[in-house]
Amino acid sequence: MNIPCERWYGAITRRRSRRRFDGRPVEPAALERLSGLCREFAPHPEARAVVVTTTPDEVFRGLVGQYGKVKGAPAFMAFVGDTRSPHVCEKVGYLGEALVLEATALGLATCWVGGFFRPEVAARLAGAGQNERVLAVAALGYAPENWTAEERLMTGFGRTHRRKALADLVTGLDRSLWPGWVKSALEAARLAPSALNRQPWRFEVAKGAITVSVDNLNDTYGIPKRLDCGIAMLHLELGALVAGVRGTWEFLAPPRVARFTVATLPE
Ligand SMILES: Cc1cc2nc3c(=O)[nH]c(=O)nc-3n(C[C@H](O)[C@H](O)[C@H](O)COP(=O)(O)O)c2cc1C
Repeated sequence: MNIPCERWYGAITRRRSRRRFDGRPVEPAALERLSGLCREFAPHPEARAVVVTTTPDEVFRGLVGQYGKVKGAPAFMAFVGDTRSPHVCEKVGYLGEALVLEATALGLATCWVGGFFRPEVAARLAGAGQNERVLAVAALGYAPENWTAEERLMTGFGRTHRRKALADLVTGLDRSLWPGWVKSALEAARLAPSALNRQPWRFEVAKGAITVSVDNLNDTYGIPKRLDCGIAMLHLELGALVAGVRGTWEFLAPPRVARFTVATLPE
């Protein structure tokens, strides 16, 4: 399946993590579209997604404080990986974000949940197999347009949505020499969501390639940073695609994650 790049790229700036849902069931047409995507979008066979139409409330474990529990979603998506596969976290992050961006394009609210959930409950509800593990889930539903005071407080009044500047994330080729696709790719990658908004990705720009690495190998809160980096990889590719550049990914050993190499440049 070809990546619907304009549609998903357009969803990048619209997506926000929402943690209070209004409980309305997800419309059947939207569920069908997401389930179809789960079947048809399989960039890596070791990662798959399942749409579950029961409330995930029993899946979530709440935390005290602003990084709170997600409540009231009528459905969720489980992002499942084959634990025997190398680079499974990156692959699951990449796939999961495709589902999240499609849900956003459909007018749905989402919130990735990576550490504070019960994987065994999620695995049962998603029908995970013997060698599979649910690495993360995303709550799915509708959220009120106007944020409640409680939800505002949970996000530190928007603080958890702020991103680092590119200057703090990028090394390599001087910025003045970046072609348009590199700017577009890095700007999109910078906006990716990450657990606790830790933004662990680092980018090294070379001629015709961008390498993604993690800032360090300390996986805080038991959530693999490579999952966040998989999400950023999809954003980076979408930014390149809308600038007319197709590329290929090659997975790398830690602390590096993967390298995107240009395959075709714009005409
Ligand atoms: C892998 C991953 C795991 C996450 N886990 C949780 C979680 O357990 N609880 C939660 O409230 N938010 C969780 N989030 C949401 C992040 O806190 C949020 O994406 C980040 O603060 C950036 O905010 P934004 O999504 O509104 O841009 C997670 C995000 C990712 C990508």
